[in-house]
Amino acid sequence: MNHAELVSIARGMVAPGKGILAADESTGTIKKRFDGIQLESTEATRQLYREMLFSAPGIADAISGVIMYDETLRQKTRAGVPFPQHLASLGIIPGIKVDQGAKPLANFPGETVTEGLDGLRERLKEYHGLGARFAKWRAVIDIGEGYPTRFGIEANAHALARYAALCQEQGIVPIVEPEVLMDGDHSIEDCEAVTDEVLCETFRQLAGHRVHLEGIVLKPNMVISGKKNTARATPEQVAEATVRCLRRWVSAAVPGIAFLSGGQSTTEATLHLSLMNREPLPWKLTFSYGRALQDSALKAWGGKADKFEAGQREFMRRARLNGLAAKGAYTPDMETKA
Ligand code: 13P
Repeated sequence: MNHAELVSIARGMVAPGKGILAADESTGTIKKRFDGIQLESTEATRQLYREMLFSAPGIADAISGVIMYDETLRQKTRAGVPFPQHLASLGIIPGIKVDQGAKPLANFPGETVTEGLDGLRERLKEYHGLGARFAKWRAVIDIGEGYPTRFGIEANAHALARYAALCQEQGIVPIVEPEVLMDGDHSIEDCEAVTDEVLCETFRQLAGHRVHLEGIVLKPNMVISGKKNTARATPEQVAEATVRCLRRWVSAAVPGIAFLSGGQSTTEATLHLSLMNREPLPWKLTFSYGRALQDSALKAWGGKADKFEAGQREFMRRARLNGLAAKGAYTPDMETKA
């Protein structure tokens, strides 16, 4: 393993004013997204949708890296260039989701543990050969009656750290993603308490597994009220609680933190990121959004050939606004001007 190379990839992933496009929806998840625009999910429509995003004019101005799913990593542009090579030629770092999903944790009702460690070393070798330079593994922590338990948090953090160590061994930067879900009606205080425990345990396990912190990117949730909470915290409160929590647990050795959007609206996700970036921080703070970057572009496209460019324009509008947010320079009035 070459540390310097890992560090340089990780820094590239959080380059100033840029963030990561999470386009790693599994075949099941992308079908749900396509159902929303009444588009059949086939290998061809999935290819076309990803090509629309990856070839949006100006994409490299705001996007540093793209997370793909196994199928997408092996697909090509219509001109015949494999997606990873197409992205790399634009200066965008290709990435790959390597976890195999959150599965029920036996004996712990309401909790899951993420699977995918068996055979991971061999899969990483193959993905590196196909051009991937970073990977993603998502642990999912839900908040409910009696959970998460200490055991559930430890099991997930342990798997994340084993994955991260294997990635670095293979010259791949791990995105370490412990997601505390914003489903449910919990308060922002409950979210902060759980996120505190999850981040503390995640970094304990990363240290135990001798993971080189300079060569990872953390992908956390923001500290935020549950979607069904009736007294939801304000954007300023979300920004303040999130930065406070991250400062407590995330070593300054970590080059960057790239948030998931987790079901926030597109504009909320952008505003929260910008508010956090108004103060000097020990790490780069940017986005690794899926839904918050894609939802409006998917609608603008609608699966229609004559709306291909309209979809690209909408995707770039969100990408640029989030790029500004990564520098603390976004304001909501830009939504109507842009
Ligand atoms: P969302 O931004 O839609 O939460 O997706 C990001 C992601 O990669 C979740 O694993």
